[in-house]
This record gives sequence, C-alpha cells and structure tokens, in this order.
Amino acid sequence: MNSMQGELIPATDANTNLGDYETARHSFQWEEVEQQFSWHRTGFINLAYEAIDRHVEEGRGDKTALIYCDAEREETYTFAELQSWSARFSNVLRKHGVTKGDRVFVFMPRSPELYISILGAIKAGAVVGPLFEAFMETAVKDRLEDSGASVLVTTPALLKRVKREELPELRAIFVVGATAEEAEAEGAGVYPFEQEVVSASADNAIEWVELEDGLILHYTSGSTGKPKGVYHVHNAMIQHYYTGKVVLDLKEDDIYWCTADPGWVTGTSYGIFAPWLNGVCNLILGGRFDPGAWYSAIEKYKVTVWYSAPTAFRMLMGAGEEAAGKYDLSSLRHVLSVGEPLNPEVVRWGLAVYKRRIHDTWWMTETGGQLICNYPSMAIKPGSMGKPLPGIEAAILDDQGNVLPPNRMGNLAVRTPWPSMMRTIWNNEMKYEEYFRIPGWYVSGDSAYQDEDGYFWFQGRIDDVINSSGERIGPFEVESKLVEHPAVAEAGVIGKPDAVRGEIIKAFVALRDGYEPTEQLKAEISRFVKEGLSAHAAPREIEFKDKLPKTRSGKIMRRVLKAWELDLPTGDLSTIED
Ligand code: PRX
Repeated sequence: MNSMQGELIPATDANTNLGDYETARHSFQWEEVEQQFSWHRTGFINLAYEAIDRHVEEGRGDKTALIYCDAEREETYTFAELQSWSARFSNVLRKHGVTKGDRVFVFMPRSPELYISILGAIKAGAVVGPLFEAFMETAVKDRLEDSGASVLVTTPALLKRVKREELPELRAIFVVGATAEEAEAEGAGVYPFEQEVVSASADNAIEWVELEDGLILHYTSGSTGKPKGVYHVHNAMIQHYYTGKVVLDLKEDDIYWCTADPGWVTGTSYGIFAPWLNGVCNLILGGRFDPGAWYSAIEKYKVTVWYSAPTAFRMLMGAGEEAAGKYDLSSLRHVLSVGEPLNPEVVRWGLAVYKRRIHDTWWMTETGGQLICNYPSMAIKPGSMGKPLPGIEAAILDDQGNVLPPNRMGNLAVRTPWPSMMRTIWNNEMKYEEYFRIPGWYVSGDSAYQDEDGYFWFQGRIDDVINSSGERIGPFEVESKLVEHPAVAEAGVIGKPDAVRGEIIKAFVALRDGYEPTEQLKAEISRFVKEGLSAHAAPREIEFKDKLPKTRSGKIMRRVLKAWELDLPTGDLSTIED
C-alpha cells in the first residue's frame, strides 16, 4: 500500500496565504474567518452581497470581476457592472413573485448571463438550481419536478428540452437571447431575459437572509434511486472564502481560472463563490475542451491560479509537450485539481512541462467545499489527496465507527459539522441521515487510508457510483433509461477503468425476445440514453448477455458484472438467483 509514499515534491513558494500548515492547523478558529464578513458587523446577510456589492462599497467597483471568452464573445465586467446587472435580475425575479426560498433554476451554457442569473437569484433570496446544458428531457424534468422550481432561465435551443406541460409549478421562464416576440410565441409565462433585465431597476435588490437560509441545490447521483438534491445554505460562504484564501491561495491581483461548469459544484463553489468572495478577477472560458484554446487563454489573460480536473490534465498530457510549448504559461503560479484521483504520473508531468506542482484537492457535492487538500506551502506526495483543511478533522473508520490506525483502508469520514456541509437532501431526509449513520461523523462513501505522515490516499468508492471524467453518474439512472428502450429487458451498468476518463460507462444488456444483438442496436441503445438523459450518461460500451446476475430479490449484482469485466473472482454468490 505504501509503495508510492516515498516520493516527495517540496514546496517552493515561501509566500503563501496559509503559511506553515501545522502552525495554521493548531491556531485555527472558524470564528476568526467569520470576522472577515461584513454581516459580522452589520447583521445583513447575503452571499451575493459579500461576493460582489461589498467590493463596490469598499472602493473596488472598477476592478475587473469577470472576463468571459468563447469563440464568439469576449467581454469583461467590473464588480460595479456585475453588481448592477445582478441587482436588476433580482428585481425582475421579485417582480415575478419570487420570494425567499423559491427555487430558481438555470439551464444554459456558460455565458455572462448565466453568472448574472445565478447572482441575481441569490440576491433575490432564491435557492439556485444549476443544470448542465448537456441534460436532455428526462434529466431536466426530474430535477425541476423534484425541486418544485418556479422559475427557469434558459436559451431558445434548450427550452425545447423542457416539458412545460408536465411541470405545473414552473411559473416563469426567462429566455436569454430571445426577443419579446419570440418569447411571446412560446406562450404564457415565457419572457425575454435581456429586455426584462434592461428595464428593471438596480435599486433595493437584495433580500437579506439568515445564514441557514437556502443558497443552492446541486443534483448529484448515488448508486440507487434518482439524483438527489444536495441543499446548501448561505453559511457555506465562510468555507468558500477561507478555502479560496488558503487552498486556491488567491491574492488581490490574481487572474483565476476554474475550468468547471456551474452545473457541477466545482463550477459554483470555486467558479463563482470563492474567487469573488476574495475579490479576485475570474476568467470564464465558454465552449468545449480544446488544448490550444486552453493554453492560449492562460497566455492571453496571464492566468495565475488554475483549477481543473484529472481528465483534463490527462487530455492535455495526451496533446503532448509540444502543444504546451507553443504558449507562454509562465504566468501560472498555482495549479490545482479535483474530482477524481490525480495520477502521480500527471503530477510528475505537470512538474516537467508546466514547471509547477499540481495540487490535488478532495471534496464532494455534499461537502460544499474543499476538505482534504495539498497546500502550496506543503510538500506533495504524488497520488495523495493531501491533508485536512485547518478546522477539519478527517479519519478512516471501520464499519462500526472505530478510527483505524495509519495505513489501514476504510471509510473516509469527516467530523461534523463544518460551515459548507449540506443541510439536507431535498425531499429526502432519510437519504441525508444515511451519511451520518456513525454518530459525530459524515461518512463520504469513499474508501481511503492515511499514512504515518497524515497524508490521505484515495482508494475507491464503496458504492457503485461511477466517476467518468469527474462526472458522477448513478448506475441506477442509466439502467432505468436503458430499460425504457423497447429492445431492452434488463440492464446493469458499471464503471470500466479507462486511461483518460478514469472510468467509462459500460452497460450489460439482456434483450427482449425477437431482438437481434447487433452493433447497430448497440449504437441505437446508446443514442437512446444520450438523447433521453445526457451525453455523459450514455454507455460507451454495451455488451449483450442472455441473462444478468441478480439477487433473489431481483437486484442486479453490479459487483458480479464488474468482476466479469475485470476478470476478478466474483466473491460471495450466496444471494444470487439460480
Ligand atoms: O469519489 C470521490 C471523487 O468524486 C466524488 C465526489 O464527486 P462530486 O460530488 O461530483 O464532486 C466532485 C467535486 C468536488 C468523491 O466522493 N473525488 C473528488 N475529488 C477527488 C475524488 N477522488 C479522488 N481524488 C480526489 N481529489
């Protein structure tokens, strides 16, 4: 287990916000972090105010807050401009009856309007629900229905995927890029975003809330059931701010780039909240992954802090050293990764090609913010997720809740509470409670071990959740879609190890009588999932089987499918049906 533990990449930057890790850890107090917020003095709470308006009121209104760039647009917004646009959208929402706690969803590709919508909704006191643009009809409907969303912001193209007739609670839809006539042609309750925002007032736009009032609802997958709505509150800003300071190591003049979409928690906690709470310039790059476009953005905007994911780094590695060599990447000061295990070879490659350490960070949608990290002031052991954030106690527990000694694999758990911890699973208190089945601890569902030096090492998921390119995919959701296809009698879905994506989705399918197991049918079934759910949920591999292994109670035994796939022993089969 400890074959990798010996390698150590020392810290090179002496001037970091955290300073010495052990010293920071021992003197740490969340109360001191709270002192940094204006609500601490005034009692007026709203995350969007702290992230945007406060900087304007403290004289930083002319500073660039957002640089947005894609193939068609390149725009910059100061803090004052973001303050004004988000205030206007907040007032639009209020005019349409949105009050504290209402769910306002955003379903569109990255654009300045997306960020303005999110900030505006938070200012209005709404709970924001961000959806990936890749979601198709079923995925969109499930989330809007479960959350009882009353408002949606979307684009003309994506509006086609919203089954309005099945969503009675959805009262108002704002369409970005639609004229008044186009919106009107869509029927009652559809409004042109730009026109509404331009004609709204920017005054008195903030709904003051309590720290425990709702902020954001991120849907994520588990191994059973539909996606769950992970509910976060304004109090999370304490952790967003602090981790932005000591993990992202943000400083006043930084140009920060987080590559994640807000449909994913990284794209909100660290693509919106952490940088702006720290008053830093945030670069948002629209469009798809492209090594040239990415490197060129770093060069052009002189990105200093860069937060991305292992799959992206592996793809950049695949593009080769020459691709990186064409650009001046010397502005980079600090590089970070999240979402999947960061392979040691990627860390070594980063060191050789970018001349920078890549700092792995571990956390989850449910944790709301980073918990176990590599800090710029600390030596990195490539392959390790690092050490707990100051203020956080993490441990490896056995199934009874005993803390295990170093180098023993078990449940990765975190002592409760911490500021950005989820507060519930929407409509599903029982699911929420499952995370806290060991009193005093949040049980992550990941397995890991801790070495003698206190570094944590990720080992895998304990459940069947699939992690493909950092996207968390619930096998159940994919299986449910598969069996809706007329040819599919039964389906079992697993993650199959993949060198670039971490895992890919592989489906085992038993066909109904009368269907021929052809390559064409495989392609058709995969397309069916892609068009019904989303591209990232579609199986890249399908294998036909006459029958799938099931328990006597009828549950597909994914672990047996996995064992077949990987040529491993199938383990205990005592519960399998004949
Ligand atoms: O299995 C862990 C993996 O991603 C899961 C959380 O996924 P999600 O909620 O989508 O959030 C990702 C962004 C915070 C975890 O349970 N994971 C996340 N970070 C790492 C990781 N696995 C290994 N190393 C990491 N650094």
